Formats: sequence, structure tokens, C-alpha cells
Amino acid sequence: MNSAIIVAAGKGKRMNKDINKQYIKLMDKEIIYYTISAFDNNTNINEIIVVISKDEEEYFKSNILNKYKFSKNIKIAYGGKERQDSVYNGLKLLSDNSEIVLIHDGARPFISDNIINDVIRETKDKKAVVVGVPVKDTIKIVDENEYVKDTPHRNLLWSVQTPQSFHVNIIKEAYNNAYKDNYYGTDDSMIVERYGYKVKMLFGSYENIKITTGEDLYIGEEILRRR
Ligand code: CTP
Ligand code: MG
Repeated sequence: MNSAIIVAAGKGKRMNKDINKQYIKLMDKEIIYYTISAFDNNTNINEIIVVISKDEEEYFKSNILNKYKFSKNIKIAYGGKERQDSVYNGLKLLSDNSEIVLIHDGARPFISDNIINDVIRETKDKKAVVVGVPVKDTIKIVDENEYVKDTPHRNLLWSVQTPQSFHVNIIKEAYNNAYKDNYYGTDDSMIVERYGYKVKMLFGSYENIKITTGEDLYIGEEILRRR
């Protein structure tokens, strides 16, 4: 069976609001509502685990879970200090018969049903799959004084999004090893790459943005309005 872990236990510091950004509303509903709904409505997802901050549990239950009544049972895990710690706590709650797990940012509410299906299909064969898009800007590598050091070829550069999807045994092994080695990566794929697995990049969507700073809220509202 296929599981989804949605991580929503960050602080949203770059958003500069007094609430966790996933509880900000876009067109009358909270960001996290849209994210959970995408996986709730997808017929290939059998299990959903949402990772939240322990001190936001009551808020999450009364304002999201009890309010929107999703059709699937939603399991709750508690977040940790870094995103990686939150994912790890989610992995520990996976059912024993879970074969594929999609790890997704709570702050990416515009993930489409089609991409979720594509990711699951590809993961069966490729074992480790991430979604991303080719970068539009030329990317510069700079030194500590912000002088340009190098310009990598743009046609090989992608920005990576979520879902990042894996055979459960692979991601669990990689995460266990990372904690043994005290290694922290900035995404899930990095951890799997580190232990020698090949990761397949799948073209996602430029709409699958992560709500990070204030202007993303305007872009997000516009994406919803056009649907
Ligand atoms: N996340 C998490 N646990 C953490 C840190 C992040 O579950 N300790 C989640 C966030 O809730 C978010 C996703 O990981 O859905 C992507 O992280 P990011 O966009 O960086 O969110 P925040 O860490 O909340 O934002 P910021 O970095 O601006 O503080
Ligand atoms: Mg963060």
C-alpha cells in the first residue's frame, strides 16, 4: 500500500506572521487543508500521516481535522527540531504493510492528483523519485564575499519540490543510517543519495510552489482562483 507523510511542523519564520504559515487561509481555507485534501482525494493513497508541532495539536484538531472531516483516517505524528526530524517521526508511524511513501511539504498546497499518480507509478519501478522543475534563472555559485565563482550549465539544473517518494525499506534504511552518522540533509533525497541509491527526477509543475514568504500568498490565491 501507499502512504503519504505531510510535514507541517515548521515555524514558518520567513513568513513573519504570528501563526504557523500552514494555518494561513487562502480563499477562506487554511493552506494545510488544501494539502491534506490532495492526498485525501487521491485514490492511490491508502494512509496519511500529518506531522504537526505538539503545541499546535489542539489547534490542528479543532480547526482542521474536526472541521473538514477528511474521508481517510489521518494519523498524527509530532514534529522535531529540523524538517528531517519531523520526517523521521512520520516514518516511525507507517503501517507495517506500507510499501511506498510519498513525503510532502504541508506548505505545498497545489500538488495535483496527476502528479501524485505519476510519482507512485514511477516509484514502483525506480524506487526513489523526486518531483522538480528546470530552473528558469541562471544560477551563480558565489564565494563568501559574494563574488561569482562559477556558473553551472542551466540545462542540468532543476529545483526540487515534493513529493519525494521511496520504497519504504530504502528510506527507512537511509534515515536510520543518517542518524547513526549524525548527518543532516536539506531534503529527503539527499539522504537516500548519500547511501548510494539513484534518484529519478520527475517533471512536476511550476504551480507546485512552496508557500514560504509573503508574496507567495498572492501567487497562491491566484492559482486557486484560476482553478
Ligand atoms: N517542517 C517540519 N518540521 C520542521 C521544519 C519544517 O515539519 N522542523 C515542514 C514545514 O512545516 C514545511 C516543510 O517542512 O511544510 C518545508 O519547510 P519550510 O518551507 O522551510 O517551512 P518552515 O521551516 O516552517 O519555514 P521557515 O524555514 O521559513 O521557518
Ligand atoms: Mg524551514
